[in-house]
Amino acid sequence: MSKKITVIGTGYVGLVAVVGLADFGNSLTGVDIDRAKVEKLNKGIPTIYEPGIGEYLQRNIQAGRLHFTSDIGEGIRNSEVIFIAVGTPPKDNGDVDLSQVEAVVDSISSNISSYKVIVTKSTVPIGTNKWIKETLKKKSGFHDFDIVSNPEFLREGKALHDFFHPDRIIVGFESERAREYMDDVYRPLYLIQTPFVWCNIETAELIKYASNTFLATKITFINQMANLAEAINADIHVIAKAMGMDGRISPKFLHPGPGFGGSCFPKDTKALIHIGESFGVDMSLIREVMNANERQKDLMVDKLKSLLGTLHGKTIALLGLAFKAETDDIRDSPAINIVEKLIQEEAIIKAHDPEGIDNFKRIYPRFTVNYYTNEFDAIDGADAIIICTEWNEYRNLNLEIARKRMKGNVIFDTRNVLDSDYVKEMGFVYKGLGRG
Ligand SMILES: NC(=O)c1ccc[n+]([C@@H]2O[C@H](COP(=O)([O-])OP(=O)(O)OC[C@H]3O[C@@H](n4cnc5c(N)ncnc54)[C@H](O)[C@@H]3O)[C@@H](O)[C@H]2O)c1
Repeated sequence: MSKKITVIGTGYVGLVAVVGLADFGNSLTGVDIDRAKVEKLNKGIPTIYEPGIGEYLQRNIQAGRLHFTSDIGEGIRNSEVIFIAVGTPPKDNGDVDLSQVEAVVDSISSNISSYKVIVTKSTVPIGTNKWIKETLKKKSGFHDFDIVSNPEFLREGKALHDFFHPDRIIVGFESERAREYMDDVYRPLYLIQTPFVWCNIETAELIKYASNTFLATKITFINQMANLAEAINADIHVIAKAMGMDGRISPKFLHPGPGFGGSCFPKDTKALIHIGESFGVDMSLIREVMNANERQKDLMVDKLKSLLGTLHGKTIALLGLAFKAETDDIRDSPAINIVEKLIQEEAIIKAHDPEGIDNFKRIYPRFTVNYYTNEFDAIDGADAIIICTEWNEYRNLNLEIARKRMKGNVIFDTRNVLDSDYVKEMGFVYKGLGRG
């Protein structure tokens, strides 16, 4: 049976959950404290860049299955299932800032008066769901609810595909009643035989951190192998392909790059170190992954500098601000570190990104960067191009135009998106990662 569901927090995760769960036939309310966001969403206007999101948003609003409000009380009272999808950003010490979750728990405690399943989708440290349960009971005096941990694994840029075709759904639960509710919420996924992992709450909480940290470790590993391949005149792509043919390894996440970024990997990896150490467990491997990733990010500007001799007064076309392609999310993007270092070196930065410019400008107003909505305007008069994000339009960059409009002829491709032989044929000095 379809359910009445409220999703609190309509950011990258919440908005996808709202439209996806509505598309499953459930009745959805999306709640956000940001009134401007709510107003736009109710008009069917997406507040993030995510391929396909507008279509799903409009379709479900029109079908009468979805609306948005900033009245959290209304959202809580009118639902049987409440998803918490607010942000859990990092604190300076690597711990997780749970203030958004705490505010939501406060609101639930003042509005709960009938049975609800309270589902945490936000990534939260081990023990948070139990804390939610105890706090709600204490604050509301109401005990007829269940808690569920249902961490999210979507990839930005492919979020809708991942919502409708997940590799697996993790559900940490404590009561059969909650399990039945979750069965109803996700029923359409049974039809496509999505694997479900039913487990206790702590296991579900740790699966999320363990998965993200493992992927961050895999990226860091291949980055170090790329640096070694470069030093010994080997080709990291052939190495990665051959490694990936081993079923135990898998070919995914074996692409070298400028260091992992985004709103999840750095934050969750740091949090896991903090969580592990708070339980007295050795987290040295993961700590070193974070350190190595920082060194990888630093290496990018050093490599560019070695190509140009000096960066002082040089004009650099920086292609890509988003932490990966097909998103406008720039949180913890490697481009931030690159921009910072280029500014320190007194280079002139001309940046382009198909979707990330507004967020970059808003979050980093202190950076002296010239922004361009056309990549060739960024390239115009540049001594060098540095490709920081693997957008398709950079893969297919028209090198004839680039060559004519640039002052210099250096391309540093931190994502290995270009064909090195062709780029060299076109008269460029080309450098990728891990190709000796
Ligand atoms: N972004 C991803 O790719 C991704 C993937 C998996 C898991 N996660 C996790 O999901 C959670 C959400 O991440 P996100 O990227 O969607 O964050 P986000 O910052 O994009 O969205 C959070 C939203 O919550 C709203 N909000 C904050 N406090 C609120 C409150 N008290 N009441 C109502 N709304 C409130 C904000 O206005 C914002 O719209 C995090 O824990 C994150 O680690 C993110």
